[in-house]
Amino acid sequence: MRTFYCGSLRKDDIGKEVDLCGWVFRRRDHGGLIFADLRDVSGIAQVVFSPEISQESHSAAHDLKQEYVIAIKGKVAERPAGTENVNVPTGAVEVLVNSLTVLNTCKPLPFQLEDEEPNESLRLKYRYLDMRRPQMQQIFVQRSQALQVIRQHLVSDGFYEVETPFLTKSTPEGARDFIVPSRLNSGHFYALPQSPQLFKQILMVAGMDRYFQVARCFRDEDLRADRQPEFTQLDLEMSFVDVDDVIGAAERLIKAIFESMTGKPFPLPVRRMDYEEAMEKYGTDKPDLRYDLPMIEVTDVFGESEFGVFRQVAEQKGAIKGIVLKGKQLSRKDLDTAVDAAKDLGSGGLIWMRFEGGKLVSPTVKYLKEAELSGIQQRFALSDGDVLFMMAGKRTDINEMMGRFRTYIAEKYGLIPRDAFAFLWVVNFPLLEYSQEEKRYVARHHPFTAPKQPIANCEGDYDSIQAKAYDMVLNGVEIGGGSIRNYRMEDQAAMFKLLGIKDEVAVEQFGFLLEALEMGAPPHGGIAFGFDRILMMLLKLDSIRDVIPFPKTQKGACLMSGAPGRISQRQMNELKIRTAKE
Ligand code: AMO
Repeated sequence: MRTFYCGSLRKDDIGKEVDLCGWVFRRRDHGGLIFADLRDVSGIAQVVFSPEISQESHSAAHDLKQEYVIAIKGKVAERPAGTENVNVPTGAVEVLVNSLTVLNTCKPLPFQLEDEEPNESLRLKYRYLDMRRPQMQQIFVQRSQALQVIRQHLVSDGFYEVETPFLTKSTPEGARDFIVPSRLNSGHFYALPQSPQLFKQILMVAGMDRYFQVARCFRDEDLRADRQPEFTQLDLEMSFVDVDDVIGAAERLIKAIFESMTGKPFPLPVRRMDYEEAMEKYGTDKPDLRYDLPMIEVTDVFGESEFGVFRQVAEQKGAIKGIVLKGKQLSRKDLDTAVDAAKDLGSGGLIWMRFEGGKLVSPTVKYLKEAELSGIQQRFALSDGDVLFMMAGKRTDINEMMGRFRTYIAEKYGLIPRDAFAFLWVVNFPLLEYSQEEKRYVARHHPFTAPKQPIANCEGDYDSIQAKAYDMVLNGVEIGGGSIRNYRMEDQAAMFKLLGIKDEVAVEQFGFLLEALEMGAPPHGGIAFGFDRILMMLLKLDSIRDVIPFPKTQKGACLMSGAPGRISQRQMNELKIRTAKE
């Protein structure tokens, strides 16, 4: 129906006869002439209806309304001097219309496509209108381009794209499953995959060597700005590899995506940090390293302090830590606000000290000895104008609270360079985590993750076992995670035993994988990236919903289709399902 895309017209096209199709974005009636911005996926062209060129099209153009779908024929002309628009790629030209066909009309819009921030419920209900907005369309064009880059890159890096089933059994990723009843096997249910974890491991046993999939995953968990119940992973698995091989392949992939989307270079290798260092310095396993602001520990300075709070904490092997805010003149009111903020974040208390005229100034100072004050000054390398914030307490609490407070201070005092991208690998995670609730150890990653040393060598000190696991963090958000797996049955069995998973349960849940491990499974490992999260971060968007074509609300609903919905009584009967009374 068309010979050109609207957004493609340039000065070189002047004089050409063109056929364009698209939507009427804006229409301006200038007495004798009617102008319309005609929009398609490529951009906007200005089309001009003049009675001197076509009386018929000019009168028909009077009835054009927003978002009418039209086709025009016309001639590309240079815009009259002084009317060019340098802000649009087609701004030097316009199309003088000699024929107009209205292909379809459009009812009044529920929101204006040019609004900066239309109401999100309306956007989701009328997602097709929302996606017509040029900035949204660009996101999905970029999403498509990123997928092509990913496929090309991975195939050239030796990976094969293999699909795994949606109708499957529960996987051990730790969220709740979405369940699908089976008509042919009444009383039995499929689970939608939380990830292709077990299948990708099986593919390694099947000799596929290097697998990838752009895999849809389903997790019934509470939603946040960076979580959706249905999301897309870039999922990889490799045979005959150790940690560095997977990290290497994963970095090359991220480099390819980053460079194609931002046009900026991506230096390799990506920095690595031990889990322990991340927790002790930044209080989180996903530190935002666009700014440093590390926590520094001074517990040792206060072993014999007369300041009760500090001495007690030091004696009880707790932690006393501080962060230094440099170069901001904080008033007494600012400091009080900081104390309140720390309380709101859950902290038991915040001590502040100002460094002025070469000494520390604070209501706390009078309780501290000279040696302690100079200890502080040296450890934090204070200079005039610095403000020191300190917390003392149980080590895990202090790390968590101080970590949150660090983020608060960085945001409050504008320390975060918004345009920066700080990539980081967090490595050497603990293999296990003690669950107070379940009174047993649980896997931090998932139960197939291999330990760095055989479990038997840890002599009962389970907290000290490290995993061959790694997460990639971007600006404080976990964008990917993976591990080297247990590939020998005896190692896997030892892990299950440690986790208190009984043989029958293991067989019932993952029997097919366990059986495969006993049939010549090669050493293997892999990783999965959250594709939506990567896009959200690289495009600097606040919500994962903006990069997913048809996302769900906080309550897991699709406002456009109305899912989840009821099913008919006939369907219920076929599935032999009855709902319980409220
Ligand atoms: P994991 O559970 O860490 O690992 O998931 C990998 C990555 O997927 C993204 N992600 C999500 N994105 C959007 N919405 C969600 N609800 C959501 N949940 C997770 C995150 C995360 O880093 N099978 C293992 C990987 C492996 O071991 O190879 C797995 O799924 O960016």
